[in-house]
Amino acid sequence: MRSDDFFGGEGGLIHNLGITDMSQAEEVLHMSYSFLKLMSYYNCAMMEVETKFNVLNEEFSLMWDREPIASVKTRLKNPISIRNKLVLKGYPFSLENVERYVNDIAGVRIVCSFLEDVYTVAEAFKKQDDVTLLEEKDYIKNPKPNGYRSLHLIVSVPIFLQHEKKQMKVEIQLRTLAMDFWASLEHQLNYKKSIGEDVSMLADLKYCAELSAELDKHMDELRERVQSEPEDVEDVLKKTMTDAPVPVKKS
Ligand code: GTP
Ligand code: MG
Repeated sequence: MRSDDFFGGEGGLIHNLGITDMSQAEEVLHMSYSFLKLMSYYNCAMMEVETKFNVLNEEFSLMWDREPIASVKTRLKNPISIRNKLVLKGYPFSLENVERYVNDIAGVRIVCSFLEDVYTVAEAFKKQDDVTLLEEKDYIKNPKPNGYRSLHLIVSVPIFLQHEKKQMKVEIQLRTLAMDFWASLEHQLNYKKSIGEDVSMLADLKYCAELSAELDKHMDELRERVQSEPEDVEDVLKKTMTDAPVPVKKS
């Protein structure tokens, strides 16, 4: 490729970026390659965490005969939001700053059936020996002024690459179905129209958050009444295996 083509003249990408010589252009290309590589590392860390929760759900569902995790969702923050967040925090855009100051590039949201499940699942996850807890914010015990509730963890987990092991940060939000319902609707309402100044709307939303907290409390009490002690996984397996009909081979 001729360098003329590469710079693309007026209106070309490199020209628009204000780049005037080849070495600057190479720098940009290198940066974008490194950025994509970094994003793929975050993607791997997100998958690791997602699997960890799926594994826990599998074990707990054997023990309790119900699934404590209703859904596990993941999302990778988009590059524009990453840049905006850095700028907002007052840091220039660099890969080093991205890794150091943006904690929620890899995001995992765990929605649990019952209140107690949030803490049971979070504790089981936190004590895994390759999980390092960097920060914990319990907005369930201390809801935000608008009523928002969820348990937030920032953790670091290792990803194993061909030649190295890298520690990557992941933001995890754990909440109940009721908390998720409220947060999703509040997010939609805020997206449509900033309700930051609308006092009666804010009060109504807070009231709904309190109702959802009440609902969680009642449902958890019901769960306690119906749920017997968790069974040992081995016992469950033995029972299931002896209960299962022995397949008869037809001749
Ligand atoms: P950022 O909000 O990510 O810039 O950082 P922070 O340090 O303020 O984090 P915090 O733990 O308070 O919130 C992180 C994330 O939780 C947000 O990006 C949202 O996804 C969610 N969240 C926090 N507060 C609210 C809220 O009031 N409503 C809703 N719907 N989501 C919220
Ligand atoms: Mg965020």
